[in-house]
Amino acid sequence: QISEAEVALFSVSSYACQRRTTLDNHNSNLTDALSLLAENAELNNEDGRGVAFRRAAALMKALPTQVISMSQLRGLPCLGEHSLRVIKDVLENGVSSEVESTKQSKRYKALKILTGIFGVGAKTADRWIREGIYNLEQLRHSGQTLNRAQKSGLEHYDDLNEPVTKAEADAIGEIVQKAVDSVLTGSQVALTGGFRRGKLTGHDVDFLITHPEEGKEVGLMPKVVAWLESQGFLLYQKTTRNSYLESKDGPARPASNMDRFERCFSIFKLTKGKEQETASHKIWRAVRVDLVVSPISQFAFAVLGWTGSKLFERELRRWAGHEKNMSLSSHALFDNTQNKYLRATSEEEIFAYLGLEYIPPSERNA
Ligand code: GTP
Ligand code: MN
Ligand code: MN
Repeated sequence: QISEAEVALFSVSSYACQRRTTLDNHNSNLTDALSLLAENAELNNEDGRGVAFRRAAALMKALPTQVISMSQLRGLPCLGEHSLRVIKDVLENGVSSEVESTKQSKRYKALKILTGIFGVGAKTADRWIREGIYNLEQLRHSGQTLNRAQKSGLEHYDDLNEPVTKAEADAIGEIVQKAVDSVLTGSQVALTGGFRRGKLTGHDVDFLITHPEEGKEVGLMPKVVAWLESQGFLLYQKTTRNSYLESKDGPARPASNMDRFERCFSIFKLTKGKEQETASHKIWRAVRVDLVVSPISQFAFAVLGWTGSKLFERELRRWAGHEKNMSLSSHALFDNTQNKYLRATSEEEIFAYLGLEYIPPSERNA
């Protein structure tokens, strides 16, 4: 046993946006367990429970060394009774019995398989399970009506569940840049999402597009999509137009964390390099790509909002609201005390308005 005096104690801020979380995780045994329970809660529409597990996992990710004893966790924020029980189980037995039984459960397995289809969320998966559908075979033979996204998702299931590499993200980035250059000179493309945080793989590739002259970006998305389509790069696309100006509830107070930018959910057809050609001789693969267009005046907020991680974003908004009486969205920052919008042209300025130390993308992996 380790004596009290020998264990390293940690001091960690309670908001994830006050912490530096790199990809270097010293407690993956614990964060894997907590993340799986978070995912299971989300798949069952238990959002509160999901956030609690996500916060606990994020806290463990931010610790500078491996935890070996429960006594090291004394005084740490974000660790509820349930999370502590899971951590204790892993530390003492190597695994959490709750995680193991969840992984084995028929419902969890089915939810994972079904929500692995692009276009299928937890609600749809739950309905199908109640109708006796647990896997793709059963879904294909069920006679269920699938929408366009789901049909495409089912068709490209294996490709879309294969992690996207940084090299593939860069190859798609070049295509997107070419598309944007062809339809409006001077447009800029920024890689956001997990790849901007330095991740080596992702479930999709996220891009933000803008133009240095305000207003020039209007109507850009349909042109970019049309170009990509004409060149045969798209297997699927659904564009939703910008609804920021028409909205009545105020830009900085969105009803959900969904923003109102012109946005395109797509599936790209990416030609493989010689090295990646598989035994099947398929020379291309399907990759999920998100495209978002932002006016330059909102670009800094959009970059911040689309870089993630999801928990880091959630914590930034919570910090802004609870600690600063401000409302942060991917469009703007509103100061409720001064009753005015705060303009910014860089992420650094936004952190400064929020009274937070600047955290670079590579340290937002909460
Ligand atoms: P992987 O793609 O799984 O590798 O991780 P990721 O961090 O890139 O996740 P994802 O592509 O799902 O999202 C990237 C960032 O965009 C995250 O910070 C999300 O919170 C954010 N995001 C995703 N969808 C929306 C949306 O509709 N509105 C806004 N404002 N942000 C979004
Ligand atoms: Mn992503
Ligand atoms: Mn995305």
